[in-house]
Amino acid sequence: MYPIHHTFGPHATIGFALRSWCLLFQPWKWRNGSARDRLRTTLQQSFGGDVFLFSSGRESLAALFRVMKILNGEEVIVQAYTCVVVPNAIHAAGGVPVYVDVDGDTLNLDVDDVERKITPRTRAVIAQHTFGIPADLKRLRKLCDERKIILIEDCAHTLPDDPASPIARTGEYAIFSFGRDKAISGVTGGAVISRKTDVSAALKESELHAGNLPHSVIARYLLYPLIYRKARALYLIGLGRIYLAMCKKLRLLIPIVTPEEKKGNMILRLQKMPNACAALALYSLKQLPVTNAHRRELTKFYRDECTKYGWNVIPGIETNVPLQKFPLFFKNADGIRGCLKNENIFLDDGWTGCNICPRGTDTDALGYTQEGDCLGVQILSLPTHQNMSLKQAKRLILSLTTHAG
Ligand SMILES: Cc1ncc(COP(=O)(O)O)c(C=O)c1O
Repeated sequence: MYPIHHTFGPHATIGFALRSWCLLFQPWKWRNGSARDRLRTTLQQSFGGDVFLFSSGRESLAALFRVMKILNGEEVIVQAYTCVVVPNAIHAAGGVPVYVDVDGDTLNLDVDDVERKITPRTRAVIAQHTFGIPADLKRLRKLCDERKIILIEDCAHTLPDDPASPIARTGEYAIFSFGRDKAISGVTGGAVISRKTDVSAALKESELHAGNLPHSVIARYLLYPLIYRKARALYLIGLGRIYLAMCKKLRLLIPIVTPEEKKGNMILRLQKMPNACAALALYSLKQLPVTNAHRRELTKFYRDECTKYGWNVIPGIETNVPLQKFPLFFKNADGIRGCLKNENIFLDDGWTGCNICPRGTDTDALGYTQEGDCLGVQILSLPTHQNMSLKQAKRLILSLTTHAG
């Protein structure tokens, strides 16, 4: 049986991997070509505003903070369950992240706590639609307007296919990630949407003067879908783990978060989104209605099944949401994940056992001040990506009934 996973090339469908394979043999298209502009135009047509592309979501965020001219000591409100690269980008631009409680019903900003934490130094609030669960944009927009604060939407985990959705259309700015396990993927890449003309002009300059990723790095990004498709097949005969260890040893795999980033350091070096990755992201974007329909189907299936078994489904998960992953909470989540590995089920996605993810991040270096329970300790998320079939979802629920009771 194929492994069940969050991170073994979740977007690496046959179509995606074939495109990646073809691009590998066209190095003249790796850095420059028409795909970047086509991706930009498509995003602009869907979401309005001006779109700028960089080599990752974190760079897009850092580029935005830089042109917003966050002065030393100005504060940016961010939720206390997030990825280390978000506070790192704030620090890199000279700002101070202020951590706000997470609403347990939605895993998003607790808007009451946002209100409490606003000071005269607050410049912006980042609304992260965690795992695709929509943040309370109505209340946040109203609050930001009243207090003259900028609203930035972090859409790394979601990309709406419904033109009426307020997601990515409410903030003055929004960022997207086209990372390997995000809402859509170009293996790497990121975008900022700006709805302010002065900031758009500065972002245009930033993108124009951004550097290029080395060819050796782009080649490894293009290899990524192929490596993971092979790894999944090799897991069938028990060789997947050795194969992946070998690829890691040969440095064919680029880590999503580096050891330096886990220590709270980000080098603010802006780089262009490679044209080859833009071509993959464009393909992924064209598949969005199909991808989101699949995510909706699995979200509904998990929601119904988990409710049936009396597991803790948070109220923020509505039936029709295309979740990037389906969060559940169990007291011994780590223990359950450990048992599931024996059945070729790998549910560690980097968002477990920590508040600032991944596990092992130096929270002191990030000025993390929140007290109380660690939300990520009990979390156990279920995959909804395209390589996860309904049949596999049924197998996963069955295994969970054995280990979680
Ligand atoms: C919530 C959130 N925002 C932003 C990012 C940055 O995306 P990228 O990996 O493309 O830098 C990530 C992931 O790393 C994320 O999880």
